[in-house]
Amino acid sequence: MEIELAAPNGRKWTQPLGLFINNEFVKSSNEQKIASINPTTEEEICSVFAATADDVDKAVAAARKAFKDPSWRSLSGTERGALMVKLADLVAQHAETLATIECLDNGKPYSVALKENVPEVINVLKYYAGYADKNFGQVIDVGPAKFAYTLKEPLGVCGQIIPWNYPLDMAAWKLGPALCCGNTVVLKLAEQTPLSMLYVARLIKEAGFPPGVVNIINGHGREAGAALVQHPGVDKIAFTGSTATGKEIMKMASATMKNITLETGGKSPLIVFEDADLDLAAQWSHIGIMSNQGQICTATSRILVHEKVYDEFVGRFKAKVEEISVVGDPFEETTFQGPQVTRAQYDRVLSYIKSGQEEGATIVLGGEPLPQKGKGFFIAPTVFTNVRPEMKIFREEIFGPCVAIVKFDTEEEAIQLSNDTTYGLGAALFTKDLVRAHRVAREIEAGMVWINSSNDSDFRIPFGGVKQSGIGRELGEAGLAPYCNIKAVHVNMAA
Ligand code: NAI
Ligand code: MG
Repeated sequence: MEIELAAPNGRKWTQPLGLFINNEFVKSSNEQKIASINPTTEEEICSVFAATADDVDKAVAAARKAFKDPSWRSLSGTERGALMVKLADLVAQHAETLATIECLDNGKPYSVALKENVPEVINVLKYYAGYADKNFGQVIDVGPAKFAYTLKEPLGVCGQIIPWNYPLDMAAWKLGPALCCGNTVVLKLAEQTPLSMLYVARLIKEAGFPPGVVNIINGHGREAGAALVQHPGVDKIAFTGSTATGKEIMKMASATMKNITLETGGKSPLIVFEDADLDLAAQWSHIGIMSNQGQICTATSRILVHEKVYDEFVGRFKAKVEEISVVGDPFEETTFQGPQVTRAQYDRVLSYIKSGQEEGATIVLGGEPLPQKGKGFFIAPTVFTNVRPEMKIFREEIFGPCVAIVKFDTEEEAIQLSNDTTYGLGAALFTKDLVRAHRVAREIEAGMVWINSSNDSDFRIPFGGVKQSGIGRELGEAGLAPYCNIKAVHVNMAA
């Protein structure tokens, strides 16, 4: 049920391998497993138990029982918040181990996991812990004949399905608001990155959450994920992942009319106007597409540049990528970019690069695999110019360190190009003209707009998309709404 592991940075830990149900690690019913691969070395790290539909049933039953149990249900918001703070503190105590696991399993740089991802978990848990006793209803004055008020109630059992690009943070974004509102949870991790949250599972027990409040399972999407989405004992599904899977989930959830929140794909534009600070634009354009190996739903993967500053911008952007995007072993301090998470993602990104070439775009940087010591799913940061808006590399989500740059002439054209997509997650724009900045921000069809930055997300600010980028919001105060019912109580005061 557990194994001793060690990483190249010398850290050793006991890795749980089971399904975490009712605060215990258990085998899957048929003992099936998923092998977790280290994308740097292409070697197996270990295998974890993978849930069957029967196991999902057990996890849901545990969550249902916990939802009704006084050990959870009768806690005050203040007490729930205290448990969440305890968990945040334990995550902080285990930060180095968690960052090590994340680096090993996902391939992201250790320094990023330690300085950005683990702190995000702590921040999100504490933020929603603070809300746990401040999320209450209203008294609605309708005159003396009636006393009316609302209660905010938890939804019940929440099924949460997360992807592999931010295993710890995506889990925290989901657990934070769900627990804050008093729900119970069955969280299904991504099969590519099953390890870090199993370690957190142990901390959940240690923090003192009653059994069954948080259940964490690994399993295949089509088996365990689908069983969770279809389960009649699940009241809500929250999903982050691809748009295609999001649509399937929406369909499956309709059978029992589950409440759903979806955070899916994107092809977010970044507009550089002729009056932009080009150094600032180059710096954020780099962050916007090359961070996290380009595996970000909000990645600004389409850069639209005014024709007057196009050549100048491309030169400065290319220089930034060459300077900062050091590809290498994610445990090395100097590494900015590690491997893609899996061979499948690596193949997918390379096939998009090939399609860009075939459709006639120009590669000004990268465009090829970059194995380290002959191994790993590494891809050189890739910049395409001479891109036409109908090309696949301009239209489809690549989810890798690969960006397409196009030219525009007028503001109208920039907005038209930005909105000419089925997606609507993020958008960035660079200008020194204050009036234009806010005007364009309103015109762009996106859930989030960054003015003079990109991907500068914050746990206190709502996150989510429009169009086919999703439904609902996570983070901020807005992130609470998808996790509670508003119950209206009418009291007749007339004789
Ligand atoms: P995916 O959307 O298929 O997987 C995400 C999660 O959904 C995983 O936990 C998976 O097990 C689960 N899942 C898959 N099929 C399911 C089903 N039928 N029912 C219930 N759960 C299911 O994404 P995948 O295959 O890992 O990546 C493919 C592409 O999706 C990427 O190249 C990228 O473009 C996009 N993606 C977007 C993400 C985002 O943050 N918006 C995150 C991960 C992937
Ligand atoms: Mg892995």
